[in-house]
Amino acid sequence: VKGLVDVISPKTLPSCYIQLPEKRVTPEKLIIETTTTGKGGMLAPVIPVIDVSDWKNPNVAEEICEAATTLGFFQIVNHEVSVDEQNELRAAGRGFFCLPVEEKKRYWDESSVSDSAWYMTSFIPHKEAKLEWRDALKFEYNYDQENFAATWPTVCRDEVVNYSHRMKRIGKKIFQILMKNLNARMEEKTLMGSLRMNINYYPECPEPKLAVGTGHHCDMNTLTLLLQDDIIGTLYARYGDKWLHVPPVRGAIVVNIGDMLQVLSNDRYKSVEHLVMANRFLSRISFAYYCGPSYDSVIEPLREVLKHGEKPLYKPTKYSDYMKYYFGKPHTGSKTIESI
Ligand code: SIN
Ligand code: FE2
Repeated sequence: VKGLVDVISPKTLPSCYIQLPEKRVTPEKLIIETTTTGKGGMLAPVIPVIDVSDWKNPNVAEEICEAATTLGFFQIVNHEVSVDEQNELRAAGRGFFCLPVEEKKRYWDESSVSDSAWYMTSFIPHKEAKLEWRDALKFEYNYDQENFAATWPTVCRDEVVNYSHRMKRIGKKIFQILMKNLNARMEEKTLMGSLRMNINYYPECPEPKLAVGTGHHCDMNTLTLLLQDDIIGTLYARYGDKWLHVPPVRGAIVVNIGDMLQVLSNDRYKSVEHLVMANRFLSRISFAYYCGPSYDSVIEPLREVLKHGEKPLYKPTKYSDYMKYYFGKPHTGSKTIESI
């Protein structure tokens, strides 16, 4: 998409990006009024912003678990990654998308020179009737391989590697809280045995009302830690039949529950749909860090959760099979998890 904008700079949206009316996000579908008190009658809540400067504070655990069981989304501030570090990562990520086309092409999808970094557009372009208005650079962290990042684009390699160490630690802390709340043990292989990152780039869009940045979907993994753009706030999470804004908060990381954690918790924790709208004037960048089960893990509701005779809501599913299924269809709006 960026190439299209750079070279042609279209004044109208090319037809392959014009979404069907039911997939467009019109203003009446957005929640404007929110409340922080929870006593606002019909008003929707805001996505909580949780201060995690003391992870051991019981209020932190309470707020995280409350958000995970209701909205499926929360933001954390005062974690170990500074605003400067976040901005360095943002600049490095933008650096990749600003490279000459010939350079970016080296990483193009299946023909990438790297076996763990891929440059893409939309979600699964060959299966989509209409394309999403975004490009992405995806990474898989193969920690078991020495020099796993050797073939990654040098413009952002070090930042993407370093950031992973920080996110891994934060992910672990959040899992500890969420597992303790279920009286379950933390199995690192099941919760974070695969680690990935997507850098999403959303160019400015000539007719944003007709397009989507990322169509509505749930994440397939266990937990996503998202560093969003510091200026353009076009991320929304489902709340009832509407969309609740997830605003950019200085220094924050947005956290959301993925499908596999919903399965493990037998629906205690909610994997909630979300989307990104396109924007008219400025490009947007975001960094989604995905903790997921190892690919060979078989995921099913945890024993500890079913202890009191509760029925499992999902049958055992191998994560690699679920991934194949997930990537086999476009962002249609139906929840993938409901069909397993
Ligand atoms: C996504 O959920 O896939 C993208 C989120 C974002 O760009 O903010
Ligand atoms: Fe997502």
